[in-house]
Amino acid sequence: MADTNVFPVPESWKKSAWINKETYHEMYERSIKDPEGFWSEHAKRIDWFEPWKTVKDSDFQGDIRIRWFEGGKLNACYNCLDRHLDKRGDQVAIIWEGDDPSVDKTFTYRQLYEEVCRFANVLKAQGVKKGDRVTIYLPMIPELAIAMLACARIGAIHSVVFGGFSPDSLADRIQDCDARIVITSDEGLRGGRKIPLKANTDEALDKCPEVDRVIVVRHTGGDVNMVAGRDLYWHELMKDAPAECPPETMDAEDPLFILYTSGSTGKPKGVLHTTGGYMVYTSLTHQYVFDYKEGDIYWCTADIGWITGHSYIVYGPLANGARSLMFEGVPNYPDFSRFWQVVDKHQVNIFYTAPTAIRALMRQGDEPVRKTSRKSLKLLGTVGEPINPEAWLWYYNVVGEKRCPIVDTWWQTETGGILITPLPGATDLKPGSATRPFFGVQPAIINQEGQILEGACSGYLVMLDSWPAMMRTVYGDHERFKTTYFVQYPGKYFTGDGARRDEDGYYWITGRVDDVINVSGHRLGTAEVESALVAHEAVAEAAVVGCPHDIKGQGIYAYVTLVSGVEPSEELRKSLAEWVRKQIGPIATPDYIQWAPALPKTRSGKIMRRILRKVAANEVSDLGDTSTLAEPEVVEHLIRNRMVR
Ligand code: PRX
Repeated sequence: MADTNVFPVPESWKKSAWINKETYHEMYERSIKDPEGFWSEHAKRIDWFEPWKTVKDSDFQGDIRIRWFEGGKLNACYNCLDRHLDKRGDQVAIIWEGDDPSVDKTFTYRQLYEEVCRFANVLKAQGVKKGDRVTIYLPMIPELAIAMLACARIGAIHSVVFGGFSPDSLADRIQDCDARIVITSDEGLRGGRKIPLKANTDEALDKCPEVDRVIVVRHTGGDVNMVAGRDLYWHELMKDAPAECPPETMDAEDPLFILYTSGSTGKPKGVLHTTGGYMVYTSLTHQYVFDYKEGDIYWCTADIGWITGHSYIVYGPLANGARSLMFEGVPNYPDFSRFWQVVDKHQVNIFYTAPTAIRALMRQGDEPVRKTSRKSLKLLGTVGEPINPEAWLWYYNVVGEKRCPIVDTWWQTETGGILITPLPGATDLKPGSATRPFFGVQPAIINQEGQILEGACSGYLVMLDSWPAMMRTVYGDHERFKTTYFVQYPGKYFTGDGARRDEDGYYWITGRVDDVINVSGHRLGTAEVESALVAHEAVAEAAVVGCPHDIKGQGIYAYVTLVSGVEPSEELRKSLAEWVRKQIGPIATPDYIQWAPALPKTRSGKIMRRILRKVAANEVSDLGDTSTLAEPEVVEHLIRNRMVR
C-alpha cells in the first residue's frame, strides 16, 4: 500500500503545537486508563453554571445508556458568546463570505451576541419554549448560525435541514421531530444560481399542517409567497426585539440538536446530541486537531446543514473564541480559484474541506491554485470520505506548498466530533490514513464474527467505549438506536465503516460496509434512492448501489426494472433521474440507470447486492460465489448491458 510515504512532523510544529508526540502518548494513555480524571480536567474548558456529579455513565449493553457530566448545568450559547464578551467582545467571531465575491460581512462576538439574543427573544415571543423543536432550512448565511445559537440559548432543540434537500425530504424531517416552526429564507444562492427555499418550504408544509409559524429571512430579495397568519419576516420581528436574553440553564444531558442522517434502512434517523459532552469534546478537538491558536483565522468549507458545520463552524470554534469563516458559495464560482482567493482575501490560516472538492480542483490543474498566494495557510484538513493518496499529495504539494500538515479527520454525524485523526505536532502523516485515535477514543477492528483483531489487520471499525460527544439516541426511537449500532456486535458501537490497521497502529478507513453510499462526502441510504425510484409509476423494482467515481468518491448506480408494457428509453432514463432529484434532492441524482429486466436474487428472494456492486464497478471477471443465484442468466444480462466499462 501507500504507507511507504511518511511525512514526519516538521521541527517547528513539534515545538509550537499544543500537542507533541510525547504529550500525545501520555495524554492518550491517561484518557483511557483514567477517563474520569482526564475528562473532568478537560471539561473545565467549558463554563458551567453548576458542576457535574458524575463524569461518565455509559453502558453499551442492554438498553444502551450514554451520559456524560450528569448533573452539570450549562448553556451552549453562553459558552459560544457571553463568556467571550469581556476579553474579545470586539474581536471577529464570524467572517461571512457571500456567493458573490464582492459580498462579505463580519460579526464581532458582541454583535453576534446581540443578534442571537434578539432572535432568541423573537423565538420566545413566538411561543418557542425549552425542549421544543425548531426546523431550520437556511442557506449558508449568518442567520443560520444566529438561529442555531438562539435555539441553544433558550433550550430549544434545533434541527437544521440542508438547503439542498427537496420539499419531501424537508417535510419528513419536520414531521419526524414534530416541529411547529420553520426558519427559512426567500432563496439561497450557490454559484450564482438561486435555490427556491421558501417555495420548497411552502410545498413541504402542505404535508405539515402542524407548522403554524414560518420565519423568513430576506436574503436575495426574490419574490415569495407569504401566507397570512403563518409567515413572518425575520427583519421585521428583529426590529423591536431586545438585545438581552438570559441563557436558559440546561442540564449536561439536555438535547442540543437533532440532525438527520441516512442509514442502510428506512428513512433518515434523527441523531440526537446533548449539551455538556458535545461542547467539551467539539471545543477540545477543534483546539488540538487544528492546533487553533488565539488570533488564527479558521475556515471549514462544509455546509452547516451537515454535522461538520455544526461542530466545526459553529459550536467548537465559537466555544474557543475563534474567528470562524462561513462561506455561502462553491469552489468553482466565479472560477476554480475561488477557495484560494478567499484564503488570500481573509488571510485564512487553517483550511478544512472535503476530498471531493480537492479532487474536483485537482482536475483543473495547478494554475488556478498557483496564481494565488496562500502564504497565510499553516494547516490543512479533510473530512467526509477516504482521501486517495494522489489527491492528498496534490493538496499537500500544490495547495500547501509542502509547508502545511494535513489532518485527515475521520468521524460521523453520530460521533459528534472527530475520533480518528492526526494531531499536527504529534503525528507523522501517511497520505490516505486518518492515523490515530483522539484522546478517550478506543477504536477496534473486528472480523465478521465480532472478534477483536490485534496488530496489523483489516475488518470492521467499532468503538469499545463512549466519548463525550457521542450521539445519545435516535430521536423518538431508542430501539432503532440500539438495533442500528449495538445489536450486530453486542457491547460495541458499530460505525458501519471498514478499516485496516497497519503495523504502526495507523487506521486506514476503507469506506462503508453497509448499504450507505458516500456521494461527495454526503451520506445517502441506497434504500432511500430505491424507494424514490419505485414511487415512479414506470418502475416495478429498483436496486441501488455505489460505484467508483473519480470526483465524487462514489456515484449512484441504479438498476431499474420497468413495469410490464413500459419500454426503456433515453427520455425515461432522464425523467427517472429528474424524479429522484425532485424527491430527495440534487445530491441523490443517479449517475447511472441500467435497465434490468430482472434483478439477481437468491433462491429465497434476497437481492444479491454484492453482485450488483461488482457489475457497477466493472469488476465482472470475479463475481465471487454465485452458487445461491436463482437465475444466473439475469446476471449475464446485466453484465452485457453494464454502463461502465
Ligand atoms: O464512511 C465514513 C465517512 O463518512 C461517514 C460519515 O458520514 P457523515 O455522518 O455524513 O459525516 C461526515 C462528516 C463527519 C463515515 O462513516 N468518512 C468521514 N470522514 C472520513 C470518512 N471516511 C474516510 N476518511 C475520513 N476522514
